[in-house]
Amino acid sequence: MSDDAPTSPAAAAEPILIVDDEKNIRRTLRMVLESEGHVVHEAGSIAEAEAVLAREPVDLVLLDVKLGEDNGLDLLRRLKSRGEDGGRDVDIPVVMISGHATIEDAVAATRLGAFDFMEKPLDRHRVIVAARNALERRRMWREVNQLRRAVDARYELLGAAQVMADLRRQIAKVAPTRSRVLITGQSGTGKELIARAIHRNSTVASGAFVKVNCAAIPPELIESELFGHERGAFTGAIAKKRGLFEVADGGTIFLDEIGDMALSAQAKVLRVLQTGEFTRVGGEKSLRTDCRVVAATNRDLEAMVQAGEFREDLFFRLNVVPIRSPDLGERVEDIPLLVESFVRECCDENGFAYKPVDEVVFERLKTYDWPGNVRELRNVVERLVIMSDDIIRERDLPPYLGGPRPPGQGTRTSGPVTAIDLGRYANKTLREFREEVESEFIRIKLAEYEWNISRTAQALGIERTNLHKKLRALGIHRGQTDPGNE
Ligand SMILES: Nc1ncnc2c1ncn2[C@@H]1O[C@H](COP(=O)(O)OP(=O)(O)OP(=O)(O)O)[C@@H](O)[C@H]1O
Ligand SMILES: [Mg+2]
Repeated sequence: MSDDAPTSPAAAAEPILIVDDEKNIRRTLRMVLESEGHVVHEAGSIAEAEAVLAREPVDLVLLDVKLGEDNGLDLLRRLKSRGEDGGRDVDIPVVMISGHATIEDAVAATRLGAFDFMEKPLDRHRVIVAARNALERRRMWREVNQLRRAVDARYELLGAAQVMADLRRQIAKVAPTRSRVLITGQSGTGKELIARAIHRNSTVASGAFVKVNCAAIPPELIESELFGHERGAFTGAIAKKRGLFEVADGGTIFLDEIGDMALSAQAKVLRVLQTGEFTRVGGEKSLRTDCRVVAATNRDLEAMVQAGEFREDLFFRLNVVPIRSPDLGERVEDIPLLVESFVRECCDENGFAYKPVDEVVFERLKTYDWPGNVRELRNVVERLVIMSDDIIRERDLPPYLGGPRPPGQGTRTSGPVTAIDLGRYANKTLREFREEVESEFIRIKLAEYEWNISRTAQALGIERTNLHKKLRALGIHRGQTDPGNE
């Protein structure tokens, strides 16, 4: 039995510490583990073990329970409470060894976080397999942590502007509480990132972050999605299914686009927010869920409440702590920093060397209006990274962002010429005439600059705020004459 131990694929050299007060046992273990290609350290007491751990990197500890005067469980406890890796949860797996193991020892060791428990006399095969499993677990822990860090980086809220500092302060204050948070703000401003930051810094950070896109789930399915269903609850319910509120138990449920949730579903959500209880579709039992609730919307919920489109009671339940996600236009100074970070990310993903960005490009990007906020900026940057050569230059920008216009299209100085048919205005007042012609002219310019308000205003020789006012006064909206490219 002992010699057909599975051959390990390149498990070599992971250092292992053996802690046992019996020299013979240490020697036997050393031989077995060295034959597997490991570097082995020995210790006869807890003090010696601590000295080795302080000096050497160790990937696995084999630890005897009875160490003369010492109790191996004390070292186990210390190792498990210490953690490494900046307090993250990659710690050193410990396999306990005992001569006359009692069930109590085994239970205590497991409770303290021992990976495995072996009895003496030790079997060679058993030792090899236990070590291999523990080391593999450690490799997986490491990988999970690496991935988690990469994911965290992907969801990092970037920005150095004052509004972002204020935002971070609010997140830091509210995250460790159990308060419900309602995040509002325009599309693409980072509401989801805020929700994730709250989760990461909350007391339920080790639980799941469950995102529910309330706008994407059809009203007839939302109840089953949120609360689950029993088998046979409706046609198609072939198996019992857990709902998202159940999955989020012990974590955070993120109700995204809550303003788009049907009124019928709102009533159901209200109940779970009031009582923490819900029932699966087709079920009788009331189930409990304990999850942090964070909601987001780009709609004006208060106005919706006024209009009877959103339940007032639900609004008050959700809006305990409101957080507003600022538009990109409120923090244009962050554009260079965001662009550089997106360039870096996109270059990495595509295996390109980092492409520096010409200063002029930042200036151009800062004058654009960004109706799609950071999401739009990110898409633009992705395109720029793909289409540019080694450096991202002004000429890589599309015309509406200040790049060169293809020949044959209107230029800034000579827009499309339209003759005014004065006859059309024969019966109008001077004011009507002025407004209509003005409105027509502004529309032409807006189309020319693809609705970039700053650049249109510049071309017209007026202030941006002034142009906004004129658009309102003249009743000009995007989408009326030009579908735009949001
Ligand atoms: N402060 C920021 N730092 C880095 N990336 C950001 C930031 N804000 C937004 N983004 C990026 O912009 C995109 C949109 O962000 P997110 O999905 O959080 O926006 P949203 O407000 O939820 O939009 P919507 O209302 O359309 O759902 C994502 O790719 C996100 O990574
Ligand atoms: Mg979103």
